[in-house]
Amino acid sequence: MTRLTPGFLWGAATAPHQVEGNNVNSDWWQRELRTPGMERSGDAVDSYHRYAEDMRLLAEAGLTSYRFGIEWARVEPDEGQISRAALAHYRRMIDTAAGFGLTPVVTLHHFTAPRWFAEDEGWLGPKAIGRFGTYVQAVTGILGGVEWVCTMNEPNMLAIMVWMSDPVRSAEARKLMLTPTVADGRYPVLPDPDPEVGLRLAEAHHAAREILKRETDAKAGWTVANHALTATPGNEAKLREVRYVKEDLYLEAARGDDFIGVQSYSSQAVDQNGVVPHPSAPDNTLTGNAYRPDAIGIALRHTWEVTGGVPILVTENGIATADDTQRIAYTSQALRHLFAAVDDGIDVRGYLHWSALDNFEWGHWKPTFGLIAVDRETFERQPKPSLAWLGEVARRGHL
Ligand code: FCB
Repeated sequence: MTRLTPGFLWGAATAPHQVEGNNVNSDWWQRELRTPGMERSGDAVDSYHRYAEDMRLLAEAGLTSYRFGIEWARVEPDEGQISRAALAHYRRMIDTAAGFGLTPVVTLHHFTAPRWFAEDEGWLGPKAIGRFGTYVQAVTGILGGVEWVCTMNEPNMLAIMVWMSDPVRSAEARKLMLTPTVADGRYPVLPDPDPEVGLRLAEAHHAAREILKRETDAKAGWTVANHALTATPGNEAKLREVRYVKEDLYLEAARGDDFIGVQSYSSQAVDQNGVVPHPSAPDNTLTGNAYRPDAIGIALRHTWEVTGGVPILVTENGIATADDTQRIAYTSQALRHLFAAVDDGIDVRGYLHWSALDNFEWGHWKPTFGLIAVDRETFERQPKPSLAWLGEVARRGHL
């Protein structure tokens, strides 16, 4: 049986914009308003008010950790205007998690930024790093006792969003982000993140890491979207080239961090032309991804190699499906791959499933990733069998 590190975290994850509701001062709220075809987050699933219930359900099921985020647009709705009430809210979340025996894993930036920040050059402007630092500094005041802090979520995806928010980018590129399921059942290949944007985000991450080191006892890291890319025969060099721009730049920036968050959903091949679109198959997920529970193993091994052995937290892994039996099957296979990686000596400190709740999937409500369903009119929570199942795995520490 696989020997997990003592205190291995078993949990589930969310992001503030996807669950809280009415994140009206954020750039994404504006994007939803302005982008034709995009669904609105609206009340989301009202976790801003119902977080205690969400945490209770996770804890009662047997999980030991909850990853959630702090929303910059709430903490600093206008530049320099720090909301003590918002900070107190997130401190209550941290205390509530601890009260339920859940180790909080706190994300400081999960795709969204305040509207004022985005509208004044955002990540590309000369003030970006300093502005992010001011926010991070303000948040450090409520992080007492928090052990795990993710400065930034998926900078390699954020870099694509930043690039696409430039008004001169093509309508075609925008459409890619808005069309998870295209007519022929294939998920379009995402554009590459712009390395210049990526390096800027790495700079922001390092600045935030320094502030966290100075002001808190937390472990600091960031989380990277891992596409578990593999080469078709003869295309190893192309794989290295593609992977550098999409992932490795961000993994290399994690060297020297206390941990790295691995986020994995599916796997794709790379041929001489680049990333091969997901093949159509009946078991493709609701986001059009190939059903690839083995992706996590590829992601863990690649991350371990590129970072040179930075301890790993799986900060996201899951499946968009309306069939909860498929969710359990996917997750149990994914965990087998995780255990195999641990058996091979990779230092994995926890597994946080995406997601605790069905939520707002960045412009869409259809892809359901949750262990808990939510009635979007009454906000009533309905745990799915997968929640009890994962809780049981957590209690036993094995499958
Ligand atoms: C990741 C995001 C997360 C969620 C999942 C499905 O890219 O970090 O917010 O959308 O994918």
